[in-house]
Amino acid sequence: MAPVTQVSFILILILLSLPPVSPGTLKRRVLGKAAKLESQGNDCSQIWTDNPKSPSGVYVIRPEGTPDAFRAYCDMGEDGGWTVFQRRTGGNGKPLAFDRVWWEYDYGFGDVEGEHWLGLSKLYFLTHQPGTRAQLKLDLHNFENESRHALYDSFQISDKSSFYTLKLGRYSGNAGDSFGGENWRGAASQVGSAFSTLDRDHDSCNPCISGDIAFNECSQQKGGAGWWFSDCGVANLHGDWHPEGDHKIWSSDIHWGTWSPTESLKATEMKVKTVVIAATEA
Ligand SMILES: *[C@@H]1O[C@H](CO)[C@@H](O)[C@H](O)[C@H]1NC(C)=O
Repeated sequence: MAPVTQVSFILILILLSLPPVSPGTLKRRVLGKAAKLESQGNDCSQIWTDNPKSPSGVYVIRPEGTPDAFRAYCDMGEDGGWTVFQRRTGGNGKPLAFDRVWWEYDYGFGDVEGEHWLGLSKLYFLTHQPGTRAQLKLDLHNFENESRHALYDSFQISDKSSFYTLKLGRYSGNAGDSFGGENWRGAASQVGSAFSTLDRDHDSCNPCISGDIAFNECSQQKGGAGWWFSDCGVANLHGDWHPEGDHKIWSSDIHWGTWSPTESLKATEMKVKTVVIAATEA
């Protein structure tokens, strides 16, 4: 036998001599996957309040009213515990696709440790916990390695039957209020808009006009994104992720118009914090 053939022959012998997966192992694996997750708190804010030394990372949470506990990434910092519900980073050259249909945006997709969308059905419960007010924070990063943020002091999405309409309070931050369409060529506010996806159109286009193009669906026009489009509007963090060098002058890209109107963003995070409502506020 030639030396190469001998090596392959030996490799095959080694593989054959390895112990097979026993039925016991298989059973444990299946059970492990099906086992109910043990909740560590209602959300990341509660886990942080109980122990402000809790490190950032993946936790199992169960907001009040949620049928099942689920995994979420908690961003723990000086300003409390934030439940991350969206993260985009380009995935080291393999970006997670955000052109998805309704049920995927409803249920969630991706990996909570990396790029993901947690899911509208979970976000609904996160923003509807009795005795708390939810806040929204967006962390945005561009290819010049600059970072900016937008903060909304109250945040809620309506239920599924009204298509998860976006409700926001007061804006603060340094990225501008793109959700509100602030100071942007008369752009429509996305606040009060229902969520649209490739297969569910709630974007008020009838049709929408952009330059000399008329179209009926923002989602199709904007990279297949699921988003709170309103006559499209100037925010879309769910467009196509573009690598550096190919990140300029796309209308279907990832943009926050009040900061980055013509250059696609490099990374984004959307997160929610709940604060206990003071007695006077209730
Ligand atoms: C941004 O940061 C990355 C990683 O540290 C670096 O490779 C790149 O050159 C930086 N870009 C600019 C424009 O500073």
